Amino acid sequence: MESSYTVADFYEKKFNSRNYLETYYLNHFSQPAIDKLLSFALEKLVKTFSSGPKFRTLLEIGCGPCLHLSLCASEHVEEIVLSDFLSNNRQEIELWLKNDPGAFDWSPITKAVCELEGNRGKWAEKEKKLRDSIKQVVKCDVHQSNPLDPVELEPVDCVMTSYCLEVACKDKAAYHTTLRNVTSLLKPGGVLIMIGVLNETFYMINDQKFPCVTFDQAFLEQTLTEVGYEIEQLEIALNPNKSVDTLADFDASFFLVARKK
Ligand SMILES: C[S@@+](CC[C@H](N)C(=O)[O-])C[C@H]1O[C@@H](n2cnc3c(N)ncnc32)[C@H](O)[C@@H]1O
Repeated sequence: MESSYTVADFYEKKFNSRNYLETYYLNHFSQPAIDKLLSFALEKLVKTFSSGPKFRTLLEIGCGPCLHLSLCASEHVEEIVLSDFLSNNRQEIELWLKNDPGAFDWSPITKAVCELEGNRGKWAEKEKKLRDSIKQVVKCDVHQSNPLDPVELEPVDCVMTSYCLEVACKDKAAYHTTLRNVTSLLKPGGVLIMIGVLNETFYMINDQKFPCVTFDQAFLEQTLTEVGYEIEQLEIALNPNKSVDTLADFDASFFLVARKK
C-alpha cells in the first residue's frame, strides 16, 4: 500500500459485507480454525456476561455487518450502540433491525447463543430484545481521537470489539493510539471486552487479502497497561489448524476483559 493510501481507503474499496458474512458466519464450518474462532468467542462472551454485572450502556466498535457480540450481551445490557467505519456494514445491520426479508439470517447463531445460555427455545424473543436494545448504529473511525465524531456519546459502561483494531492499523504505534481513542469512550471503572488474534498477518474474504498488524501476547498486555487498564481476564486459544486453513494465518485467538482505571 502507498503511504497516502490508508487502511480506511482500502476497506472502502475492498471489504464486501455480504461476502464477509457468508465466509465467516455462514460457511465457517468448512474451515476448522474459523469455526473454532466463532465457538470460542460465543462461549467466552456468554460466560462473561452471565457471570458479571449488568451494564446500562454498551458500545461495540467495528461491529462490521455482525450481531453475534450484541446477541451475547442483549440480556445483560439496557442500551446498545453499534458502530463501524463502513456504510455497507451499517446498512446490513439496519436491514436486520427493520426485519427486512433481504437481511442476513442470524437465527442459527442466535440459537447457538441461546443454547449456550441454556434456553434454546427463546431465540425469537432474544432477537426481538436485541432489536429493542439497539439505539443507534453510527459511523466510527478508530483513528480519530473521538472515534464517533461528530456524535458525542456519554462515556459508556462497556465497550466491546472484535477483530477490528488489528485490521484497522498499519503498525503497533497505530494500535496503541487507536486503543487509547477507543478507551476515551469508556467510563472510568468501565469494562473493555476485546476479542482478537495474535500473530496474524492476513485474513481473506474470497480472493481478497486483508493485512493485519502482527503482535504477541506481551505487546497486547503492555499496551493495555500503558493505556490505563487492569486486565481481569485474558484467555488464549492456540490455533492448531494454522497450517491447513487458508482464510487466516493467526497463531492464537484471545478473549480479554479489562477494566479502565
Ligand atoms: C474483520 S472485520 C470484524 C467485524 C466484526 N467485528 C467481527 O467480529 O466479525 C473488521 C472491521 O473493522 C472495520 N474497520 C476497519 N477500519 C476501521 C476504522 N478505521 N475504524 C473503525 N472500524 C474499522 C471494518 O469496517 C470491519 O467491519
